[in-house]
Amino acid sequence: MDIQNNIIGLKTSATLAINELSQKLIKDGKEVFKFGLGQSPFPIPEVIVDELKKHAHQKDYINVSGLIGLREEVANYHSNKNQYKYNAESVIIGPGSKELIFQTQLALNCDLLLPSPSWVSYEPQAQIINKRVHWIKTTAKSNWHLEPEELDRACDSLKSVNKLLILNSPNNPSGTSHGNLKELAKISKKHNIVIIADEIYAELDFTGEYKSITHYYPEKTIISSGLSKWCGAGGWRLGTLLFPEGLSHIRDGVRAIASETYTAVSAPIQYAAIKAYSEDHSEFLDSSRIILKMIADYIYRELSSVGVKCQKPQGGFYMICDFSNVENITQEINNDKTLCQKILNDIGFAMLPGSDFGLEEEKLLSRIAFVDFDGSEALKLISNKNFSQENSLDIICPQIVKGVSLLKEWIKSQ
Ligand SMILES: Cc1ncc(COP(=O)(O)O)c(C=O)c1O
Repeated sequence: MDIQNNIIGLKTSATLAINELSQKLIKDGKEVFKFGLGQSPFPIPEVIVDELKKHAHQKDYINVSGLIGLREEVANYHSNKNQYKYNAESVIIGPGSKELIFQTQLALNCDLLLPSPSWVSYEPQAQIINKRVHWIKTTAKSNWHLEPEELDRACDSLKSVNKLLILNSPNNPSGTSHGNLKELAKISKKHNIVIIADEIYAELDFTGEYKSITHYYPEKTIISSGLSKWCGAGGWRLGTLLFPEGLSHIRDGVRAIASETYTAVSAPIQYAAIKAYSEDHSEFLDSSRIILKMIADYIYRELSSVGVKCQKPQGGFYMICDFSNVENITQEINNDKTLCQKILNDIGFAMLPGSDFGLEEEKLLSRIAFVDFDGSEALKLISNKNFSQENSLDIICPQIVKGVSLLKEWIKSQ
């Protein structure tokens, strides 16, 4: 039996594939510097892990939308952060925000608008369900932010279709945070766009004061978030969606799909997650941000010094690097996949080509994820009173320092 036409050509998601390839190379005895997969290096706070142990015996199916106590906490948390009053009814808990974003796409009769670059999975998800995708270009000059004028222009040519926009800030792959939310909200209102605000990295905005587009456009914005990034719990698979009152029909659609597919997120995980949302984790988060910013600034400085153009990350753990100005490189290499493959082969530095995120192949852009370090050790180190930032990176993230240094040597040798 054949598989569906739209599934032909669909491959294992790029970030997971680079991780599997890196593991294979390591098994074959090669030293690999893992700048491919972006998962949190930090441990799950201990109070939350303890709560999971306490609830290991919870065995019953849970309400499809999620445990009521958890939904209340999630609603409180976002109401405080986002200045919009959510309640337990606004929330759906799912097995990771990836699945929830997919189910929202599935529920909606619309075309999908994506800034280029965007996270690797939005577009393949649309492909799986035959949804039309319209890419809207952004540039390094605008910090890879979606420009309101570009959004307006794209919508002018799509007047008769329903439009869903996925806006991710702090952004994967660029690491930059949107500063033009008010203007984007104005254009979104004008064109009646529904937005999924992918705020999975919000708590890792280096300012500690992430601002959501719901401040300006709450009525048509669905917030997507979860435990994977700020709480170090990607493997727990717990994501959240928050719907404003006026989008409750979409919430009901997602709930119906969930009830016929995954049923509910694992019960013990949901009980433990209550602690994640009800307790104050600001010390853990402040330290996580300090460490990530230190590493981001370091890589930015080092790579800029050898002609790689990058934007200083403002949150999360990613950045986009532009190799097109590196002398002699373009004579031999004319697309980003060849570039990444060659650097992986030559020095074991694994990163993802920009085209995996919707950027043009010939632009020689790549995405770096700077998470190859022991988050527990890093947190311990910076909690020490005598800690000083100077020279501490060799201790905090030796693999990152070695990988970046090899990459610099490789660039100089071209
Ligand atoms: C931008 C973005 N959104 C969503 C996700 C999905 O996260 P999860 O399904 O673990 O909640 C990721 C994971 O890498 C991501 O980078």
